[in-house]
Order: sequence, then structure tokens, then C-alpha cells
Amino acid sequence: MTKDDHIDLFNLKASDFGKDFIWGVASSSYQIEGAHDEDGKGASIWDVFVHKNRFLIPTVMTREVGDVACDFYHRYEQDIAMIADLGFRANRFSVSWPRILPTGTGKVNQKGLDFYSRVVDSNLANNLEPWITLYHWDLPQALQEKGGWQNRQIVEYFAEFTDVVAKKLGDRVKNWMIFNEPLSFCAGGYLLGAMAPGIINPSGFMASVHHVNLCQARGASVIRENVKKANVGTTHVIAPVHAMGRKSFQIKAQESVNALMHRIYLDPNLGLGYPFGLSPIVDLVKRHIKDGDEKDIQVDFDFIGAQYYSTTKAIPVPFLKGIPTKPKPKTGQDADMLKSPVNPKGLYESLEFLNSYGRFKNIIVTENGFSTRDVVENNRVYDLRRVDYIRQHIPWVLKAIQDGIPVTGYMYWSFMDNFEWALGFRPRFGLIHVDFESLDRTVKDSGLWFRKFLAK
Ligand code: NOJ
Repeated sequence: MTKDDHIDLFNLKASDFGKDFIWGVASSSYQIEGAHDEDGKGASIWDVFVHKNRFLIPTVMTREVGDVACDFYHRYEQDIAMIADLGFRANRFSVSWPRILPTGTGKVNQKGLDFYSRVVDSNLANNLEPWITLYHWDLPQALQEKGGWQNRQIVEYFAEFTDVVAKKLGDRVKNWMIFNEPLSFCAGGYLLGAMAPGIINPSGFMASVHHVNLCQARGASVIRENVKKANVGTTHVIAPVHAMGRKSFQIKAQESVNALMHRIYLDPNLGLGYPFGLSPIVDLVKRHIKDGDEKDIQVDFDFIGAQYYSTTKAIPVPFLKGIPTKPKPKTGQDADMLKSPVNPKGLYESLEFLNSYGRFKNIIVTENGFSTRDVVENNRVYDLRRVDYIRQHIPWVLKAIQDGIPVTGYMYWSFMDNFEWALGFRPRFGLIHVDFESLDRTVKDSGLWFRKFLAK
């Protein structure tokens, strides 16, 4: 860190962020719930993906699956009480589409919907504001068989699903996030094939991006039709893109990567159109745009969620102009299990980037977190690197606020260890340790740190 990058970490209090600042935690349905085929739930693309090719080339490196995960489905009351006990006042979680509509459309599974109703009530009873993410990657497999996000009809299915959820929960839930990280599930699922549904198809990828963008707008309007005074937003992973130098081809690479990672989602929703001409992949979207889309894609978000883990380096290459890569940790720099170098200032850059659009009334850090191995010793988990990580990141949120960026909340990923997608259970992000054999929970030192901090 240079002198400029240094912020006083030690005298920070939660109250410095203001009394209305939202302190929360985040999680998602497939990663924690388990009960993968219980009470009428349909299969999601993740249920199918994790079991695919298990004995040949595994889709999950460790051959683990999320069938049981943290068993939140049966233990939600205890888990929600633990979140409240740490002092948080907001709980961001997602609803599983195939638990509610087993085939994605048509018949509603009442038991699935009732489960989320109980989860909402349990949050409220614990004085935790529920923040619902409608889609955190577990698409009904039945819809994947119709083309998934590549099929434009998904916009209608998504509107139907949103309507069912908003009608049931909208009397108690005011805060709604349409999507979790479109970049991750569109690129991971349709361009790189590393995530469900495991497809590699650049044009199909851009179709998925365009349909997701349309769903942002449709979803927001369906929520507003059903929920009085709804607070509607979405979340994006923001990994500030750095050029490798000041030469024009290096700047072009940076612009191209930034267009591919961030602008193809944000710009059309904000009425700015797609950033054409910067990346040949982005330009593939043209063939999927229909008359009227430019207008129908615009959203008036109440807030935008920034999810920050690392910055990006843009590598100049011929034809594609630039490809993204994660910077390697420098000597002496800490990095987490996903090899993300700890760079707290990048969080500030991501907030600054979103604010540069000049359109967002509220920016919330809807995810930020650190993965380690973590073991329980004498009933304690000494995750001091995570404590350090948090203590290094949240001051940059305060600095952003002091610099006039309207940041109104911070949600740590995740309240407990869970199923880290294609990486299985090994990367542990939680404030609460989960033993995936016994399913015992143990609050880590980072959880204890938060409890102290939030009490101040
Ligand atoms: C992004 C995703 O939203 C979440 O599902 C994932 O577990 C974390 N970040 C950590 O990689």
C-alpha cells in the first residue's frame, strides 16, 4: 500500500457509518439449503450439473455435490437466530425457482413457497430485514431443456416466477434483488462452460446476457406491480479493470474487458445502449436484439449491489482486443483460497466505478468476503486472516461515503461456510464454520469480531 492508500483502521466504529447504514450477510439457496428433492422441489441446473460426469471428468473438482449442503432447509430457524445474534440487521438470501415452480412455469409447489414464507417470518421475528435475490443461479432444469437463458421465452417465465414470489412474500419483504452476478452465470454457464449448464457458445452467451438484461426490467416492474414501496435493485460483480500500461493497445484491452465484464449489463439497463465496437464478443449481441428492446430493457433501480472480490488485469490480444485475468498476488500480499489477492482499495474503485454512471441513488456492497481453510480447535475457529480482511475493506466503504458516494450498506459473504459451486466445500467464506459431516455450526473469530464491532 502507498501512503495514500492507507486508512486508519483502528478507530473505526459501526456508528461512523451512520445509524441507517445496513449491515448484513448474504447467502444463496443452492449453496446452503440442501433438501434438493424434498417436498416437491424440481431439479435445478446445478442439481444436474454437479452429478454430471462424476466418474469421468468431474464438473466439481472435488466431486462434491450440494444435495445436503448446510441443510438450511431444516435448520433455518437456528441459522437465522445466529445471524441476528452476531448483531446484523439484514439478511440477503435467494429463493430457488424450482422449489417454487418445479418445472419453471405452470404449477406452483405450495410447500416450497411456504418454506420461504416461514424463512421471511423467521427473519422478521429476529429483527432481520429480509433482502431477497430472485435468481442466484439455480434455474429449473426443465427450462434449461427449453434453452435456458438462451431462449427469449425465458423473459415470460421469469415474469411468471417473479409474480408468484412477489404475491406471496411482498406483504412482508420490501427489498428485492433481481439477479445475482449476471456476469458469473452467463459467462460461466454459456461462454466458459465452467458452471451450470456447462455450455461453450459465444453467441449463446450474448443471447443469455440480453435476455437477463430484459428480465431485469420485467422483474422490476412485476415487483413494483405487486409490492407497495418496493426497494428494487440488482447485483453485479465489479472487478475494476486495470490496463497493463498506458499504450493505446493496452487501453483498448482495458476498454474491451470492461465492456465485456461490466458495461454489457449496466449500460443497456441504464438506457445507454450496448457498448458496441469495443469487443467482438459484445458485438454478437446485435443478432439477439428485437424492435422495442432498447426501451423495454431500461430499469429505474432504487439501488445497485456491488460485489467485490478482486480487480482484473486486461491482457491485450489480437482480434478479441483484451482478455481478463486475475492479478497474481505480489510478494508478501495475502490471497484467499480462490487466489484473489487482497486488495482493499479495489472495493473503493468498484464503488467509484458504479458511481461514475451518475445514476445510482444507493449503492450497497451486497457481497465481499474471504475464503480460507478454517478448522475448529477447542470450539474456536481462529480465522484471523478473515478478520484482517474485513478490517481492511470496510474502511474503504467509509471513505467512499466521505467522498460523496452514496453507499448505504455492506453485506458480508457469507454468514456460514457453504457449497462454493464448481469448487465444492473447500473454500470456506463463512463467519460461521460448518462441519459438513456433522453439520455442526461454530461461530468463527470473524463472527465474534463482527458482533463486537456492530455493538459499538
Ligand atoms: C459470488 C457469488 O454470488 C457467490 O455465490 C459465491 O459463493 C461468492 N461470490 C464467492 O465466490
